[in-house]
Amino acid sequence: MRPIIIANWKMNLSPSVSVDLTEEMLRAIKDKDLEKTDVVLAPSFSALALVAQEVKKEEISLGVQDVFWEERGAFTGCESPKFLREAGCRYAIVGHSERRQNLGETDEMVHLKLKAALANGLTPILCVGETYDERREGQTGNVLLRQVNSALQGVNFLPHEHLVIAYEPVWVIGTGQAVETHEAEEAFRIIWQQVVDNVPLSIARSNVRIIYGGSVDASNAIDFMALEHFAGFLVGTSSLRAKEFAQIVELMQKYGA
Ligand code: PGA
Repeated sequence: MRPIIIANWKMNLSPSVSVDLTEEMLRAIKDKDLEKTDVVLAPSFSALALVAQEVKKEEISLGVQDVFWEERGAFTGCESPKFLREAGCRYAIVGHSERRQNLGETDEMVHLKLKAALANGLTPILCVGETYDERREGQTGNVLLRQVNSALQGVNFLPHEHLVIAYEPVWVIGTGQAVETHEAEEAFRIIWQQVVDNVPLSIARSNVRIIYGGSVDASNAIDFMALEHFAGFLVGTSSLRAKEFAQIVELMQKYGA
């Protein structure tokens, strides 16, 4: 399966700066062979339309950082998966820990968002991961099990539908210090087991990618690439630097999944 690298810009960039960074990124990865890797930019909502214009004719896809579970109606401030698809999005991040923590998103909400994304032709990027306290209490496995299972339970994947699951240990996000690779590998193994329990094996093998996120940069990315089940990265801070992001893309093409 082609590896995937997603730039999660969070709420860091204004629309005009998002356009500048997109242009810089396009220049930086121009000579990279994108046949081999899926590259996704996930700007904030206010920048989506502008970035969509920039990447329209490029081999880069547009992602959104969140999506609502209804397609239309009286839901002030929510974003419809149907409209986002029409606006050019191909991927939707669901269940990022910053939304689970700051906005009280529950496993049930994440499940509904994942289903709504799929139903509207968006590939969900499901984020899962334990907090520092959960890890200290030895709960990592249980947390991953619960988050993946509740997101996928009862979802009937069709052969053309894809899924990305990002293992993001909450306690390393934005710290500059990634998790130890053996911990990521163990998490991938647990996640993969839940995937095959919920998704037909043939679809799981060809359409489900498990990736790592949490302080990925050009100096540590390579450490993850040989891990079993590894299929890419969700990159926050380092995706705000075009050259560094392009370097990670390049490393992935050389040594990646
Ligand atoms: P980070 O963010 O790379 O800055 O740790 C990753 C994420 O939250 O998706």
